[in-house]
Amino acid sequence: MTTTFPDGFLWGAATAGHQIEGNNVNSDWWAREQSMPGMELSGDACDSYHRYREDIALLADAGLTSYRFSLEWSRIEPVQGHVSRAELAHYRRMIECCFEHGVTPVVTLQHFTTPQWFAERGGWLAPDASERFQAYVAEATTILEGVEWVVTMNEPNMQAAIMTAMRRMQQAGGQWQSPTVEAEGEPEQQTHSDFLTYADPEIGQTFTAIHHAARAIVRERTGAKVGWTIAAGALTAVPGGEEKLLEIRYGKEDVYWEGSRGDDFVGVQAYSSQQVDARGLVPHPPHPDNTLVGTAYRPDALAMAVRHAWEVTGGVPVLITENGIATADDEQRIRYTREALEGLSGTMEDGVDVRGYLHWSLLDNFEWGHWEPTFGLIAIDRETFVRTPKPSLAWLGGVARLNALDTVGVTGA
Ligand code: BGC
Repeated sequence: MTTTFPDGFLWGAATAGHQIEGNNVNSDWWAREQSMPGMELSGDACDSYHRYREDIALLADAGLTSYRFSLEWSRIEPVQGHVSRAELAHYRRMIECCFEHGVTPVVTLQHFTTPQWFAERGGWLAPDASERFQAYVAEATTILEGVEWVVTMNEPNMQAAIMTAMRRMQQAGGQWQSPTVEAEGEPEQQTHSDFLTYADPEIGQTFTAIHHAARAIVRERTGAKVGWTIAAGALTAVPGGEEKLLEIRYGKEDVYWEGSRGDDFVGVQAYSSQQVDARGLVPHPPHPDNTLVGTAYRPDALAMAVRHAWEVTGGVPVLITENGIATADDEQRIRYTREALEGLSGTMEDGVDVRGYLHWSLLDNFEWGHWEPTFGLIAIDRETFVRTPKPSLAWLGGVARLNALDTVGVTGA
């Protein structure tokens, strides 16, 4: 059976500046890597800062039609108020390179990192955070001519979960204590103490206001469609976990889906699904198919996430801005992606307006403190920076060229 996708459907892959460029020495993440025990360093990363032409060419040659990448605010504004025209020109060259290859760029303005000076002033919760971000966004719009898709922020809900965990840790005197476990009075039961389970809803309101202010600037100064991307947990409740599910999902997701109402699209990012019981998130049980980041093999998470997004946003068009799997087994990556796409086409048959699919990630890259979890369609030698496309790149490119998914008998490249 063959499932076809609508004309103009975007087929691509995604990356983020800090994870691939290398030497983002003015970003808060660079500083964090130097100070947090147990974290590996981003270092030269994939040296994509210099090798982006090769990356875009590989993507285009495989048959993909879209590339999502991010601008590094800390390069563009390394010191507050100092805007580097040379760095803006660098990102403009990346956009032009996409155009030269017939690739549609999807430009993210902020992907997890901020300049270190911004972090030192209190980050997103500083009184003038929105003003500072708006000033940067206004500068960024000067290079966006011809760009059709702009993401203001990547996964503000994940950023909020980190901020919430940090805040709770500080309140507890520097030690991480699970709120769920404490409430249950079962200190030995550490299985539910997931560090990033909760996100305070008021942080979501703050992010929503910042996003709306940035959206207004992008709309005023460019012709691009604008939205943000949200980490979707595809959460389900076990009997007795229904209330807990609503509590966790509201602060961690729904406040953000609600914040997308009025956007031109919403970026859905889904990897796995997880259950919630009365105490919180149920850890993924060990399984041979589990991914290199410990999550369950759940390609159905994408369709679950898309349906939830469609419902809570009230019908905002969906762009899949990330979906993929951390695995050393490229056959598993192809199997996962095919199953995720089958589920996605089911949502479209049911009427969800999905505009494209961007796989995470184009390259094996810096997974925020770790190099082992490989999400890429292309392997990287981190000494020589030689790129080696995996069979999954050719496979996804083949789907893109056909604009269709052969759902029977497709096992590899
Ligand atoms: C992020 C990426 C990350 C990926 C895989 C998403 O949360 O946007 O930066 O690498 O998931 O963990």
